[in-house]
Amino acid sequence: MAPENRPSRSTEAFFGRRRGKSLRPQQAAALTAGLDRYRLDLASPPPADLRDLFEAEVSCVRLEIGFGAGEHLLAEMEAHPGTGFIGVEPFVNGMARLLGVVERQPSARLRVHDDDATRLLDWLPAASLDHIDLLYPDPWPKKKHWKRRFVGKANLDRFARVLKPGGVFCFASDIDSYVNWTLLACRAHDAFEWQAKDAGGWHRPYAGWQGTRYEAKAIREGRRPAYLTFRHV
Ligand SMILES: C[S@@+](CC[C@H](N)C(=O)[O-])C[C@H]1O[C@@H](n2cnc3c(N)ncnc32)[C@H](O)[C@@H]1O
Repeated sequence: MAPENRPSRSTEAFFGRRRGKSLRPQQAAALTAGLDRYRLDLASPPPADLRDLFEAEVSCVRLEIGFGAGEHLLAEMEAHPGTGFIGVEPFVNGMARLLGVVERQPSARLRVHDDDATRLLDWLPAASLDHIDLLYPDPWPKKKHWKRRFVGKANLDRFARVLKPGGVFCFASDIDSYVNWTLLACRAHDAFEWQAKDAGGWHRPYAGWQGTRYEAKAIREGRRPAYLTFRHV
């Protein structure tokens, strides 16, 4: 997207809370130090080869949007040692939790963005990502709020621009209306092909899946998660 056509609002798709409980001094210090080290500078142009964002040599790059407290992101980083990860989370307390962990165990394969993911998506070079995770995005269950959902034509266009051909978009949710919404939106978008293997397969977790904090709560409350995978064609 040409810079003059980029939306100027920094919170185009972010309607949640920025802050929760006050951070303890140690958490606040880890947040400041972690943002200094890991935060992407969107005021500078991205590298032509996105792998150059990382201190370590990596073979591919994944993005997790709205990582919450970062448990899934950390588990995936451990499971994929040759991959660079970009984690996005505008909720300060979530970012502080992740950066608290990497303060104790630094990573040369991590970068973060602490604002609306749409800003990052517009900054990334075309065809630069291998994988996007959108796991339990804010569900906005009331119909009058559906337009706030992260999945929609504009953000699928963004995903289509930044994913490599053959790249993958994974979407998990426990809210049936959001699962249907996403299936319909991706079906209407010619860049995405649903990778459903068999009927009911969408309730089978992804390979190596370790869950997320939000998912554990949803299951405790009796809701059944769905795991959708779309390939960028
Ligand atoms: C329901 S929580 C799920 C968190 C985590 N993925 C999990 O499953 O435990 C949704 C998260 O998405 C984040 N979020 C909402 N809108 C966002 C946006 N536009 N860009 C990036 N993150 C966003 C919220 O701050 C929140 O932490």
